[in-house]
Amino acid sequence: MAEPLLQITGLDVHYGAIQAVKSLDLSVEDGEHVTLIGSNGAGKTSTLKALTGLLAASAGDILFNGRSLRGIAAHERPALGLAMVPEGRGVFARMSVLENLQAGAHLRRDSAAIRDEIAQILDWFPHLRRRLQQPAGLMSGGEQQMLALGRALLARPRLLILDEPSMGLAPVMVEKIFQVIGEVCRRGMTLLLVEQNARLALQVTERAYVMDSGRIVLDGASSTLINDPQVRAAYLGE
Ligand SMILES: Nc1ncnc2c1ncn2[C@@H]1O[C@H](COP(=O)(O)OP(=O)(O)O)[C@@H](O)[C@H]1O
Ligand SMILES: [Mg+2]
Repeated sequence: MAEPLLQITGLDVHYGAIQAVKSLDLSVEDGEHVTLIGSNGAGKTSTLKALTGLLAASAGDILFNGRSLRGIAAHERPALGLAMVPEGRGVFARMSVLENLQAGAHLRRDSAAIRDEIAQILDWFPHLRRRLQQPAGLMSGGEQQMLALGRALLARPRLLILDEPSMGLAPVMVEKIFQVIGEVCRRGMTLLLVEQNARLALQVTERAYVMDSGRIVLDGASSTLINDPQVRAAYLGE
């Protein structure tokens, strides 16, 4: 069998004396859509920050595309094919919507394809088309999430990493954003999705990990976990 695109083994992450991630193993196959769910404070964001290099791992190894990320700085990881939309979105507030989208493609030279892909993103998110020349920071949280997702897609990543794309958004915005996430997955993007909205996350992915207090406590097919009584009671509010 081919090796996974992403393979995390034995990952520990500390904030000083506090251990946020405890010996975590997680893998994502090429073309797979995987979610990491868990309550607030479980360690999901810390895991993603170790993956993107924003936090140092205190133990363990992260292999991406067969290569260890140890010693590779955060700013060098996008060129390897990692794109993350962080919690809180992280758009460039004073740059226009168009400039933000173009920034996502800054490592690419295929300008005709970039133009086509920007047009596709504006078709998916007409909210952005109306605001193309406006500063991104003036938009609503939902519109900024659309922009952040569009910007990440323009990098044409090997692995798209989303941290809580539904957080703080109105239900109608969440629905639009997840429609596009679903479409992008159908087109073959590999996805690692962190979500507190476990129901939504389990619906758009094939495989899931459940994290609690820094550890993976359960993993399996999303369709199995969505019917698991323990998962339903703890994460689906049933
Ligand atoms: N900057 C920080 N300093 C100290 N502790 C932190 C910091 N960020 C997160 N933590 C702690 O690490 C744990 C995991 O947090 P986090 O990874 O943000 O969880 P999640 O994304 O699952 O909500 C929590 O106990 C949190 O309080
Ligand atoms: Mg988080």
